[in-house]
Amino acid sequence: MPINIRRATIADLITMQYTNLTNLPENYTFKFYLYHLLTWPQISFVATTTDPIDSFENELDFESDKKNENIEKLLQDLSLDNPLFKKGNEEQLLEIINENAKMDAQYINKNEKIVGYVLAKLNDDEEPSPEKDVNISTTGHVTSLSVMRTYRKLGIAEKLMLQSLKALRETHNADNVVLHVRESNGAALHLYKTKLTFTVLDIEKSYYMDGEDAYKMEKDLSLFDNLDHEGDDLESDLLQ
Ligand SMILES: CC(C)(COP(=O)(O)OP(=O)(O)OC[C@H]1O[C@@H](n2cnc3c(N)ncnc32)[C@H](O)[C@@H]1OP(=O)(O)O)[C@@H](O)C(=O)NCCC(=O)NCCS
Repeated sequence: MPINIRRATIADLITMQYTNLTNLPENYTFKFYLYHLLTWPQISFVATTTDPIDSFENELDFESDKKNENIEKLLQDLSLDNPLFKKGNEEQLLEIINENAKMDAQYINKNEKIVGYVLAKLNDDEEPSPEKDVNISTTGHVTSLSVMRTYRKLGIAEKLMLQSLKALRETHNADNVVLHVRESNGAALHLYKTKLTFTVLDIEKSYYMDGEDAYKMEKDLSLFDNLDHEGDDLESDLLQ
């Protein structure tokens, strides 16, 4: 399962939005994603894989397949009277399923599936300008980060974050980066605090729609000038 981390492009946006809807209660309009990529195209990243649709391969038991949402879609397209749905035709059926890779909303094309993303921006009051006033500090903001459940605990989020933080520093000369995280989000807190050395700036009461408080966290990005190796060789295949 090779995982590739690369810059997000506009072609990835629908799938990024799908990944966000699957993983987080904080969701955004398509326009909001587009705004990020059009304004700051260098600092948002996706993690992709070329994994075949193995979830189908292992489950060609017709009874249970009918429960699979993706198979349901296929069944809608092909009549149940179709001879393909007879026992013994599994291989042929699998071929058709694989050809319909786009039915799985995570695929951006037949051979590339998005498994995680990080969406970042500069703080909104800081429109990109060709000449940065050296006295004004530039703050990056991680708007959203998520990794699909099957691909978690492989280091993907950490690598996505490192790429984005490094790009914030290199491209925008950002001094620091901030983000918000739910008080109850143990996995993300561990990632930010322990792995990425963010510190808590503040607790923002009832930051989330459901009333939960957020930790506002910050990381100094000047560290990247000295730790140039951080995230350096992450452009291509990362996890074998
Ligand atoms: C939080 C999230 C992005 C982490 O993604 P990930 O790819 O699994 O994270 P990584 O593999 O890079 O893990 C980084 C560290 O966090 C730890 N970690 C990840 N998930 C964890 C969990 N559920 N509980 C405890 N620690 C966890 C990892 O073990 C690793 O630390 P280690 O090297 O000391 O073991 C992912 O769980 C997710 O998408 N959650 C839902 C969306 C979300 O909460 N986004 C963040 C909003 S602020």
